[in-house]
Amino acid sequence: MKRVALLGATGSIGRQAIEIVEAHPALELCAASSGSAPLDAVAAPFKQVGGDLTELLERAEPDVVLNAVVGFAGVHATLWTLERGVDLALANKESLVAAGELALAALRRGGGRILPVDSEHSALFQCLEGRAPEQVDTLVLTGSGGPFRGWSRAELEHVTPEQALAHPTWSMGPKITVDSATLANKGLEVIEAHFLFGIPYDRIEVVVQPTSIVHSLVRFRDGAALAHLGYPDMRVPISYALTYPERAATPLPPLDLASLTLAFSTPDAETFAMLALAREAGERGGTAPCVFNAANEIAVAAFLEGRLPFLGIPEVVGEALAANDGAPARDVDDLLDADRAARETAAKALVVA
Ligand SMILES: NC(=O)c1ccc[n+]([C@@H]2O[C@H](COP(=O)([O-])OP(=O)(O)OC[C@H]3O[C@@H](n4cnc5c(N)ncnc54)[C@H](OP(=O)(O)O)[C@@H]3O)[C@@H](O)[C@H]2O)c1
Repeated sequence: MKRVALLGATGSIGRQAIEIVEAHPALELCAASSGSAPLDAVAAPFKQVGGDLTELLERAEPDVVLNAVVGFAGVHATLWTLERGVDLALANKESLVAAGELALAALRRGGGRILPVDSEHSALFQCLEGRAPEQVDTLVLTGSGGPFRGWSRAELEHVTPEQALAHPTWSMGPKITVDSATLANKGLEVIEAHFLFGIPYDRIEVVVQPTSIVHSLVRFRDGAALAHLGYPDMRVPISYALTYPERAATPLPPLDLASLTLAFSTPDAETFAMLALAREAGERGGTAPCVFNAANEIAVAAFLEGRLPFLGIPEVVGEALAANDGAPARDVDDLLDADRAARETAAKALVVA
């Protein structure tokens, strides 16, 4: 039996993960957490609503932690898991983006594994398996382009939260859905890919593939490109991470190739400024990715509450990045300081934006 601790059990990923665990005889839910929603319907011996997630993990002694918390709130659990050499099935991309180098150092010390749950990174992980790094030319992350693909800046000015929450291909929690609309999600994923696979930023590309069938590609030095295809359904990467390397069956139908449209285009990085801001933060390194993430969390929450226009999101994040000196985080306290300072700067910038 593999003991699974599920953090964020009441969310979009969390609910789908429960379905996967329940369907697989060798997976056992040993712990479940939520931020504030009740967990009465979740069958796990250890449960926790709010509070310190690492205490729950200490008690539950999992074989694998599926971190499906949204935002920086998942960072302590990610670091705890990596430090102890427990497998980390990672949906909570914000923790790897923000903690970057600290997380990789904890991974090296702990000797465990990160099994990506983000569909693009699960795809890359599978395309890269068994290949030496020198064979890799570029990683190509695909994205649907979000609900506003093809829109101009003028058209984006009066976008409402309801419009931003209507994603064309994926059904997800509200924060990542807004991130998909601004392309901040693809930006976070570029940074996530850099830390997961050790590839420099100038060899990580983003391409738009509106139907979300191609989940990502790897170009190799001999001119071959390997792609991962599948219907947009998170149960597949969740199952892959939890049953790795078994690749257990899922209830999905086989891919009907003749019915698919696979067109690709370049993202509009000028209109959707969050992608370039994320790259800038990634290239700067240090605490810049943490700042990008923190300011984005503040801006997205304000947008959802109707306190910030859609185009104000990159403005707020840009201001927070400009105020950051990019110094590296030597430890978790440094990281928490950078996160806190960025949130304060972003909150002040909200008033002006
Ligand atoms: N949804 C997807 O298809 C998808 C795809 C790829 C990656 N991801 C990533 O997976 C993560 C989760 O996304 P989601 O769409 O599942 O989000 P979601 O539906 O909003 O669920 C978030 C979960 O985190 C919990 N949570 C929120 N704040 C917390 C806090 N401060 N402390 C502890 N737990 C907290 C929530 O608890 P409550 O229910 O009590 O609020 C909920 O269980 C994100 O990092 C996202 O980027 C999601």
